[in-house]
This record gives sequence, C-alpha cells and structure tokens, in this order.
Amino acid sequence: MIRSISHATYRHRDLAAVRTFFEDFGLIVAHETPDRIFFRGCNDAPYLYIAERGEEPAFVGVAFEVDSEESLQVLSARFGAPIEDLDYPGGGKRVATMDPDGRRIELVHGVARVAPIAVSRPAVAWNSAGERRRLGRFPIFDVGPAEVIALKHVVMSSPNPAAIIEWFTEKLGAFPSDLIGEAKEKAIGAFMRFPRGAEYVDHHNIAVFMGPTNGAHHVCFETIDLDAIGMGRQYLASKGYKASWGLVRHSLGGAVSDYWYDPSGFRVEHVTDGDFLNDTYPTRLNPHNQESLEQWGTMVMPEDFLRS
Ligand SMILES: [Fe+2]
Repeated sequence: MIRSISHATYRHRDLAAVRTFFEDFGLIVAHETPDRIFFRGCNDAPYLYIAERGEEPAFVGVAFEVDSEESLQVLSARFGAPIEDLDYPGGGKRVATMDPDGRRIELVHGVARVAPIAVSRPAVAWNSAGERRRLGRFPIFDVGPAEVIALKHVVMSSPNPAAIIEWFTEKLGAFPSDLIGEAKEKAIGAFMRFPRGAEYVDHHNIAVFMGPTNGAHHVCFETIDLDAIGMGRQYLASKGYKASWGLVRHSLGGAVSDYWYDPSGFRVEHVTDGDFLNDTYPTRLNPHNQESLEQWGTMVMPEDFLRS
C-alpha cells in the first residue's frame, strides 16, 4: 500500500535563509514560488522537502507514496477524505489526513518522476584488511555540499508514541523494525518500515519517540557515502552552521549519521549505510539507553538531542 516516504513539509519564517542552508546542506532548488521552495535530491523525485513561508516555524507534515490508484481509493475511504489533485510540480493525486497528534499526513500517487541528476563521483570502495576493493590512489573530493540523493525518513516526537505507533501500523500498514521500551505495549519509541514481503526495504521511513511536542525530531537525507558526510560536515562547519550530533554509527537501523540545525532550529540529518530488512526480520524490543542509539561516535550524544 505505502511504497515509501515521499516528502516532508516544514514552515519557516525566513525562506531566503532556508534556501541558502539547504543548498549548503546538499539539496537543490527544483521550483520556487513566493511562498514555497521545493527542494529535490539527485534521484528521480521532483521534490523531497517543501519549505513554506509562515510566521511560526513548524513541522507541517509528511507525505508517503502509495503504490496504486486503488490503494489511494482505499485510503480515501478509510480516512473519509477526498482524493484531490496535487497542485505541485509533477502533479498527481493525494489524500490528506491527520495522525492522532494532528500532524498532516499526505498520501500521494501518480507524481511524475524527473530525470535523475548524476552525482559527482561513485561511492568510495573501501579497502579492508582482507579485501582490496580500491586500487591506486585515494580520490581527492570536491569541496562543497554533500550531494543529497533521497529522503530517507522523518522521526517525529509525540507525548503519546504508543498511539502514533498503533495508528501507523493499523491505518497505513507500517511495521515496527525496532521498538524501544520495557514492553511492546508500553513502547516509548519505534522505527517503522513499510514492508513488501521478501523485498528488502528501508529499516525505517518513519519513526516516533516520546517527546514534549507533536512535531518532528528530525528529517533525514541520504548522501553518497561516508566521505560525502565527512566532507559535508566540514563544509557546513565552514559556513558557520550549528552542529547537533555526529558522526555516529547507530545501533538501531545501522546507519552512519550526522545531524545539523537548520536556520529555524530544526534538526536535519545526513545519512549513509542504513539497514535494509525484509519479512524475515521480526520486530525487536530494545532497552531505552545510550547503547540502543549509538555504537560509536566522534562526540558524545548531547543531552539536548533527546529533547524536541
Ligand atoms: Fe534519523
């Protein structure tokens, strides 16, 4: 039913500052109106992130791509919401609803794909002690933003994560890859995937954690590889942006991540090398501790990372 995550929408006061930040972060402006900027990555999605102009900065919502017109009709009936034309680049249809916290959840189908943009280099093949994968000299990277390929996930914060987990699993067919808490029924966090049987899918496209607000904790974009994250980190630091946490190798989901703050104070993540799972991987229950979040990192997780 849900194929994957489509795009995230945030509201910002200063669109010019947001434009500059996300270009430095590695996104590309695909389309612009006086009140909206549509950012894309290098993949074939026409946009991954929409910045809307507004007085009060906020996470507006997240959209998911639905696999068929029939699925969209099923979801339209389920939520009692009409199928509307999507008046954005690439067109398509959408059903708009709200999760139990009041976040806007959009379900989209038929958005026209665009030609992918070639990234500047292939991923670096690493030499290991047992295997030579890269022969000759180490490549010299271009200095600049970490090229974003795709939107990977949104992590939401909620005062009632159990209700959000139940809503996403029952209404949208999500499956918790990893739960955090003492018991499944009392989970305070979940990383959820959209399963497709034997096919391997992202460990999570949506996640939720206990938090004081009903907003988003961060939005995550995939880069080429670890070196892109490192070069991107150096570039963002050179521009004076504020780092949040990273580099870190996560325990749950397996990815290597680096977190920054955008000009409105929202966290954004560069990621690479995340897990892919299929239906042979059941839900795991994990304790709520540092080890569940981090295997190694170049800095200790700051205390404010767990606040929204
Ligand atoms: Fe993340």
